[in-house]
Amino acid sequence: MSLPPQLQRAIEQEAGRFPPRELGQAALALSEAYRSGQPSALSLSSDLHRLAYAAARLPATFAALHRVLAELCRRWPGAGPRSLLDLGAGMGTSGWAAAEVFPGLAEATLVEADAGMIGLGQSLAGEHPLLAGATWVRGDLRALPALAPRDLVVCSYALGELGEEEVLAAARAAWVATRQALVLLEPGTMRGFGLVRRLRAALIGEGAQVVAPCPHRDACPLPAGDWCHFAARLERSRLQKRLKEGTVGYEDEKYTYAVLARSPGVPALARILRHPRRRAGHADLQLCTPEGLRSIVVTRSDKAAWTAVRKAEWGDEYPFSPPPG
Ligand SMILES: C[S@@+](CC[C@H](N)C(=O)[O-])C[C@H]1O[C@@H](n2cnc3c(N)ncnc32)[C@H](O)[C@@H]1O
Repeated sequence: MSLPPQLQRAIEQEAGRFPPRELGQAALALSEAYRSGQPSALSLSSDLHRLAYAAARLPATFAALHRVLAELCRRWPGAGPRSLLDLGAGMGTSGWAAAEVFPGLAEATLVEADAGMIGLGQSLAGEHPLLAGATWVRGDLRALPALAPRDLVVCSYALGELGEEEVLAAARAAWVATRQALVLLEPGTMRGFGLVRRLRAALIGEGAQVVAPCPHRDACPLPAGDWCHFAARLERSRLQKRLKEGTVGYEDEKYTYAVLARSPGVPALARILRHPRRRAGHADLQLCTPEGLRSIVVTRSDKAAWTAVRKAEWGDEYPFSPPPG
């Protein structure tokens, strides 16, 4: 997975306004702020820092968004959204990912608190078929006005920046504005998962169907101390490698998510929660199933399951009903 070339070029052009050393220092400060759980509002206070975000972080949130939206497309075949609402849009990352997965999207509304992010998002958009004509709204997720419903609503790496008391109201407002499906996406940390789990439960209480990743809409069965998260691999651009002083050509972005919809989709029969452990003649899988968590062993003698497991990765569907535990 890599950024659309048009977006990569636009980021490189904007980043060229700053000396590489300053951009590198800002990227470092940003990743330290994220590691310590500091909200980005504090660290995205200048164009230098915003561009460091665009160059170093945005490719990772794009990769996670792309994976999650592709899963929505797979699990909810009726989804053909025409309109997108992004709450906490940053520079419009979701619009770039959603336009690739849902080419029928014709209208985007992007709500963002920071005027600098909006300005850069507009510059990066260039002649993008969806984002060039997007409506940007400078607004605060803690005090959202009634929003006209849109087919697809996205809250990506943004709700975690709100306070405990504010976040539920913001998620409810997002749900009220959802005509088809709502994507909640957060960093794949214990904290991110705790937030998504809480919001998933609250919105199920308001009638939401769960499209992904869960194969059910019951309470999450994971025990305390464990967390549901996945990884999206992205190719590092030359600029990213330089900023991260890394020699590795890729990185794995850990994320956690829930896709909720107004009507039932086709949920996975079971979800693979860890890297499958493959050995000679058998593989161990950790699954989330409609009947709870299961550890199963698939052997070569079960031809259909073995073929599926040989290709399957962490986060994929296990396309069979697992045996009762
Ligand atoms: C980590 S960035 C994520 C941006 C984008 N959604 C993505 O996935 O790349 C978080 C964004 O949320 C915005 N944000 C934080 N608190 C907000 C609030 N209360 N209202 C509106 N936007 C907010 C920040 O300004 C920032 O642009």
